[in-house]
Amino acid sequence: MRVLLLGFGNVGRTVASLLTVERPRFPGLNSLDVQVTGLVTRTKGALANPRGINLTRAVTEIRSTGSFDRANPEFLRVTATEALANLEYDVLVELTPLSIEGKGEPATTYVKTALSRGRSVVTANKGPAAFAFRELRDCAAKNRARFLYESTVMDGAPVFSLAESSLKGCVVKGFSGILNSTTTYILTRMEDGADLEGALEQARREGFVEADAAHDLDGWDAAAKVSVLANALMNASLTPPDIVRQGISGLTPAKVKKTRAEGKILRLVGRGWREGSRVRGRVELATLPLNHPFAGVQGSGSILRIETDLMCPILITQERPTLYDTAYGVLNDLLLLSSHPTEGRPG
Ligand SMILES: NC(=O)c1ccc[n+]([C@@H]2O[C@H](COP(=O)([O-])OP(=O)(O)OC[C@H]3O[C@@H](n4cnc5c(N)ncnc54)[C@H](OP(=O)(O)O)[C@@H]3O)[C@@H](O)[C@H]2O)c1
Repeated sequence: MRVLLLGFGNVGRTVASLLTVERPRFPGLNSLDVQVTGLVTRTKGALANPRGINLTRAVTEIRSTGSFDRANPEFLRVTATEALANLEYDVLVELTPLSIEGKGEPATTYVKTALSRGRSVVTANKGPAAFAFRELRDCAAKNRARFLYESTVMDGAPVFSLAESSLKGCVVKGFSGILNSTTTYILTRMEDGADLEGALEQARREGFVEADAAHDLDGWDAAAKVSVLANALMNASLTPPDIVRQGISGLTPAKVKKTRAEGKILRLVGRGWREGSRVRGRVELATLPLNHPFAGVQGSGSILRIETDLMCPILITQERPTLYDTAYGVLNDLLLLSSHPTEGRPG
């Protein structure tokens, strides 16, 4: 499978590392046959090689100088748009940042361009599925390609693949969950006495804060995840501005301490539910009793509760995810593609 990689930040470099130097540690990846034939960043340059880029060199160059070396024989002057239209690839792996202000662009256009060429897409970026889910799903089906986005919610934990393969025949009535690692991490550290800024700085060092931290603090990242879940699991057409939203900006250590002293805990909770024929979504700073199933979620952990008409509620939890979990979600989607390359009706 020839891959065009857009974005080579925290997630892209971890994917590259798992495909190269760290690969021998994970024999389960043996069947993954991937050559990255194009790699494009916004400011650090681009690389291309139809036989497969030297990813180890790419990671080393970025780590040592912060950009690709112009003397690298694979260095190419190309924009993402040009690469999408002209390079040879079977799958686009889209790992650029979430843009709320840009309503998911330019990533959504990148994804649409690849799908329209009949190329499947794997993305960890919530933007495309949060702002244009139906259009992209239909475009994939029309062009006999696949649009996969497992890492957009709870990193590599099986959310969409579980719903698709193991909840057949069930109608999802609603969901709720703690979906944003940064805010849970900050709230957990504030419970231990840290202030918001210090806790945010620590989360940033761990690599899971969004490029724009306000996306996490103001609830936009959680709202984007609620949109993706509602669209994918409940066939909705919600976008992040449709989600009633609260964040944790302005929260003081005193408020966190007081809540804790009352035997409760604060967590940013996202929900989706049906109201007649409509699907609604909300993100709120909820006060939870300590015996609530969500109250045990600490640090960078997440939890999702899915309610269906047929099954009792299902809980998916994730403890201490790292960038490897996100990168694994991307690799899992690539493995899925290698066994099921197309879906939907012929175009
Ligand atoms: N980090 C996590 O734990 C995590 C977890 C789940 C999902 N995600 C999602 O995964 C995606 C990637 O996250 P990340 O942490 O790797 O982000 P990141 O470290 O900020 O890296 C983003 C990469 O995208 C490139 N880029 C930005 N705009 C571009 C454009 N228009 N065309 C081509 N490349 C472009 C950047 O290039 P420059 O460096 O040159 O600007 C950079 O290489 C995001 O959407 C994020 O929300 C991340």
